[in-house]
Amino acid sequence: MLNQAAQIINKAEAFIITAGAGMGVDSGLPDFRGDHGFWNAYPAYSRLGLSFVDCANPQYFKSDPAFGWGFYGHRANLYRATIPHEGFHTIRKWIDRNGADYFVATSNVDGQFQKAGYADDRILEVHGSIHWLQCQTPCGSNIWVNDAVIEIDETTMRGRNALPRCPDCGEVSRPNILMFGDWHWLSDRTNIQEHRFDQFLIEHADSRIAVIEMGAGTEIPTIRALSERIGWSLEHADVIRINPRAPEIKPPHLSIRCGALVGLRGIDAALKALMPRS
Ligand SMILES: NC(=O)c1ccc[n+]([C@@H]2O[C@H](COP(=O)([O-])OP(=O)(O)OC[C@H]3O[C@@H](n4cnc5c(N)ncnc54)[C@H](O)[C@@H]3O)[C@@H](O)[C@H]2O)c1
Ligand SMILES: [Zn+2]
Repeated sequence: MLNQAAQIINKAEAFIITAGAGMGVDSGLPDFRGDHGFWNAYPAYSRLGLSFVDCANPQYFKSDPAFGWGFYGHRANLYRATIPHEGFHTIRKWIDRNGADYFVATSNVDGQFQKAGYADDRILEVHGSIHWLQCQTPCGSNIWVNDAVIEIDETTMRGRNALPRCPDCGEVSRPNILMFGDWHWLSDRTNIQEHRFDQFLIEHADSRIAVIEMGAGTEIPTIRALSERIGWSLEHADVIRINPRAPEIKPPHLSIRCGALVGLRGIDAALKALMPRS
């Protein structure tokens, strides 16, 4: 399987990297797989009996803003402190090696691809980003950079200091992320990214495309569905799905059952063992 993946990488003219929360696991980030996974990462919410779906809810920014910001402030601090693992760089090396074009499509809100040096205009964040804020009302369409540092009391998961506010109306702001039961997410930033991605797909309709999917779960299957749609609709697109627990995909697409870093290292070794690129 690793050899087949290396053959796909070897001839790729364009790369599409599709990633879910599992992509961050090898950088030390938690995925939120099931209530158990979420509560392992956030024991305080286990004590309060709150699931990921309960916490990722815009209602708290209105009813109890310090609690709403507890979850998102903690995550923003964590993602800022995280160093993307070597696998992010391995894929960039393949892109450079082939002189290929690329696009990233991710449901992650953590900004790790930007941090690893991927160009901001080559990334689609389908659920938005924690590094951008919007008004919770919202009073307008403004989306601005999140430079707020929130200290969190980890026993209560509440923000300790002043919360970031909307510069236009003074209301408490919230991350520009699509939450559960969310009618107020401003999708403009993601819409612009989506438009660039559509253009990319049109430009590469006849290119040999390697879709590398990593860490995309089955519960909210947005990213898996996207990889499959590209794999089945574009004639020269091959999908490599890397996932330690849910790698299944119909052939001829490739299923690699392991973590992202181990899988990428394995493909890299197989690629080096191939004849030099002609
Ligand atoms: N880092 C983030 O930004 C982040 C983190 C958690 C959740 N979320 C949000 O929550 C939702 C969660 O859905 P999801 O499908 O992304 O995550 P998920 O937690 O439901 O699933 C994670 C997947 O990653 C796999 N995985 C675990 N370890 C891995 C590893 N080392 N390498 C590769 N894969 C590994 C698991 O088998 C699982 O299939 C998304 O919509 C996302 O917006 C974002
Ligand atoms: Zn406002």
